Amino acid sequence: MDREFSYTRKHFDAVRAKLYELAGITLATSKDALVYSRLVRRIRNLNLSGFPDYLSYLDTTPSETQEFINALTTNLTSFFREAHHFEILKNFLQERTGKVKIWCVASSTGEEAYSIAIAVAEHYGRFNTPVEIIASDIDSNVLATASAGIYTMDRIESINLHRRKQFFHRGKGNQAGNVRVVPELKRMVKFSKINLLDTKWPTTSGVDVIFCRNVMIYFDKPTQLAVLTRLVALLPKDGIYIAGHSENFSSFPQLVRLAGQTTYYPVGR
Ligand SMILES: C[S@@+](CC[C@H](N)C(=O)[O-])C[C@H]1O[C@@H](n2cnc3c(N)ncnc32)[C@H](O)[C@@H]1O
Repeated sequence: MDREFSYTRKHFDAVRAKLYELAGITLATSKDALVYSRLVRRIRNLNLSGFPDYLSYLDTTPSETQEFINALTTNLTSFFREAHHFEILKNFLQERTGKVKIWCVASSTGEEAYSIAIAVAEHYGRFNTPVEIIASDIDSNVLATASAGIYTMDRIESINLHRRKQFFHRGKGNQAGNVRVVPELKRMVKFSKINLLDTKWPTTSGVDVIFCRNVMIYFDKPTQLAVLTRLVALLPKDGIYIAGHSENFSSFPQLVRLAGQTTYYPVGR
């Protein structure tokens, strides 16, 4: 294939190694074309001469680290993705009195965190609840979208009319075609940037429910083990860890036991 910039296996491997070091993400070898298309935009925007130039720029320019991560993460998400998890959450809330803390650890553009907030608001029948929802991601671009809480109309197509009316406002004027989560819902979620690889997380106090969905799939087994160990340590005995549909932790019985469909309890408390 004719390419604008020379791109060899050596360049791809250097990118993979850097992404693994910074974010714990293991890129499959089949992702080489994707890496090219994502990084070529950075190379052009920065007026660099090609991949070797970009890689040394990345090494010497701290601010590029975030751009590099933003360019290479996969942020696919949707409102009420894997809908059964939100019913599990409501059942969990049913059993609890008092304060509950929920951490949505790879919230991407925010749909998952707002779905959690909707489930919580529906459970209590109000927006002012004893539930604290924190949401985070490594990617600063998706967090900006999440914090704005503005989505194109098609993103909420699968949400029933009743929920749409209650939790979204239609945009007018230059926001026509967009919807905005209602301010009361927005106030229920606090977004921040957290890399799951960071040695210190701002959230060290007890978390009752962890939504960690569709991010572990990008990590190799040792990274999964390291991250899962630390996440599960935040949970009380009856806390729950909610995983993505293709994530299975049966190889870590010392840490978790299955509680329901891709939902786990911590073990060893
Ligand atoms: C496929 S999305 C999943 C979004 C959402 N959890 C869901 O299931 O719909 C994966 C997200 O994980 C984030 N991510 C990848 N590596 C991360 C890391 N080391 N720390 C925190 N977030 C990370 C990406 O930026 C991306 O937004």
